[in-house]
Amino acid sequence: MKAIYPGSFDPITYGHVDIVKRATKIFGEITIVLMNNPRKNPLFSIDERFEMIKESVKDIKNVDVEIHKGLLVQYVKSSSAKVVIRGLRALEDFEYEFEMALTNRQMCPELEMAYLMTDLKYLFVSSSMVKEIAQFGGELKKWVPPIVEKALQKKFRQ
Ligand code: PNS
Repeated sequence: MKAIYPGSFDPITYGHVDIVKRATKIFGEITIVLMNNPRKNPLFSIDERFEMIKESVKDIKNVDVEIHKGLLVQYVKSSSAKVVIRGLRALEDFEYEFEMALTNRQMCPELEMAYLMTDLKYLFVSSSMVKEIAQFGGELKKWVPPIVEKALQKKFRQ
């Protein structure tokens, strides 16, 4: 079965990569769908994010990456995959995910959500956190793939 892993990935972190790896063990094929989150102002362009995702998951089998500029449900309706994966970390993720899941299901009843719990190692890793660390010149190696580390350092040097 094929599943969709949507997100804004600004930028992709090892927390996301871990979810992708674990999802491939459950679902046969994963499509990472890079989208915009209208609630967030991205640091990286969609093309920069796309390149970083592709490089970060290149060694994981049965994973592809696509860009989608509309609603998630529009993507789901046009796809043969109807399962959407999201990662969950702290309790604070839950409220937002619950709201998004129920809204999306109203618009697309065939959509099903699957939540994967983060690995303890990545409990506090988020794209916002790594951007903050990068801004103050902190160590990034543990949290993001090398291509993302370089891109963050470059962004904040500019
Ligand atoms: O990684 P993020 O920022 O938590 O991902 C959020 C994302 C991109 C999945 C969400 O913002 C989204 O679905 N954006 C597309 C617009 C959409 O479908 N909005 C309806 C959500 S109720």
